[in-house]
Amino acid sequence: MKKALITGINGMDGSYLADLLLEKGYEVYGMERRNSTLNRTNTIHLVDRITFLHGDLTDQNSLLRCLKKSDPDEVYNLGSQSFVGESWNTPEHTGDVTGLGALRVLEAIRVYGKQLKFYQASTSEMFGKMEKFANEDTPFYPRSPYGVAKLYAHWITKNYRKSYNMFNVSGILFNHEAERRGIEFVTRKITDGVARIHLGLQDKIILGNLNARRDWGYSPDYVESMWLMLQQDKPDDYVVATGEIHSVREFLDAAFNVVGINGWDNYVEQDSKFMRPADVYYLAGDSSKAQEKLGWQRKTSFKEMVSKMVHNDIELNNGSSSK
Ligand code: NAP
Ligand code: GDD
Repeated sequence: MKKALITGINGMDGSYLADLLLEKGYEVYGMERRNSTLNRTNTIHLVDRITFLHGDLTDQNSLLRCLKKSDPDEVYNLGSQSFVGESWNTPEHTGDVTGLGALRVLEAIRVYGKQLKFYQASTSEMFGKMEKFANEDTPFYPRSPYGVAKLYAHWITKNYRKSYNMFNVSGILFNHEAERRGIEFVTRKITDGVARIHLGLQDKIILGNLNARRDWGYSPDYVESMWLMLQQDKPDDYVVATGEIHSVREFLDAAFNVVGINGWDNYVEQDSKFMRPADVYYLAGDSSKAQEKLGWQRKTSFKEMVSKMVHNDIELNNGSSSK
């Protein structure tokens, strides 16, 4: 039985990856940090099936301890301060967790000394200012403290691969969403807002830049690509994307459509507080390499994903519905 250690276990991807690895027969260890209240909304269904370990990406020794306790064959570093907007408020913290955190995991693996496989959660935010479909050869131009931190993590992952002959891969994943997405990200903010409007619990959704365009995929499809990357004979980097681009406006169209509302002008307002100092206006990925070499394919369409998210939010909000 293979063993995997996942940092960021309670996040969206961490929880879906744990589901996938358990299905494949892995013994799963999840690293969580100490919070004043336990934050296991996404992993509550897993409490009897995985082992939670306490650690923090800002604490070198805790990472080594987690490795010793789990003795993994594969390590997935998904932990991060992952909200781009927040990275301007806490740039140093973001650099520490999201950038140096990856270095600390790599150092822990190096010191632990076992030949294991390491996955780093790289991101399309590293491309930042881009104009056409990005692949593994496209130059990086990050536009946020988060993107800059992730670029450091990406390069240190490659550097340790070469320097110490480690099996390190970076998955350069474009935006992916799902029912377990954090509420502050634009997709979930919209699907939750639409659900609440539908149930009569809320009048408006207040957003920032409606013209931003993203290549949105479905998280359970994307975590499969992480696993596939670690099953290869040689470590490499891969772009994972759908190749299909939608604006925030189009996401609103799709989400309101699910509840039978065709014009959303009366339900959406813009507020400058949700605008970013330097936004990424357009992200589009070319995942040909992942498709050819990993045999990876998206399974869920944009429309299906939006529908799943809205229906899930209707169900979650139904308990507090006045109807
Ligand atoms: P997420 O839901 O925000 O999960 C991030 C996890 O990191 C959370 O469980 C969080 O713990 C944990 N974390 C934060 N600070 C930590 C620290 N100091 N020590 C240990 N853990 C810490 O993010 P996600 O959407 O699942 O994304 C997973 C990874 O992929 C992240 O690295 C993200 O940056 C990257 N990524 C995401 C996307 C996307 O579109 N979703 C695309 C490309 C790359 P708490 O639960 O305690 O807050
Ligand atoms: N969050 C948010 N809230 N974004 C808004 C809003 C709003 O009210 N209104 C408009 N947007 C726009 C943002 O300005 C951005 O252009 C776009 O919607 C997407 O924002 P997010 O959903 O916050 O995601 P992101 O693209 O910045 O970052 C996500 O994807 C990255 C991969 O490209 C995160 O998951 C990152 O962790 C990930 O690396």
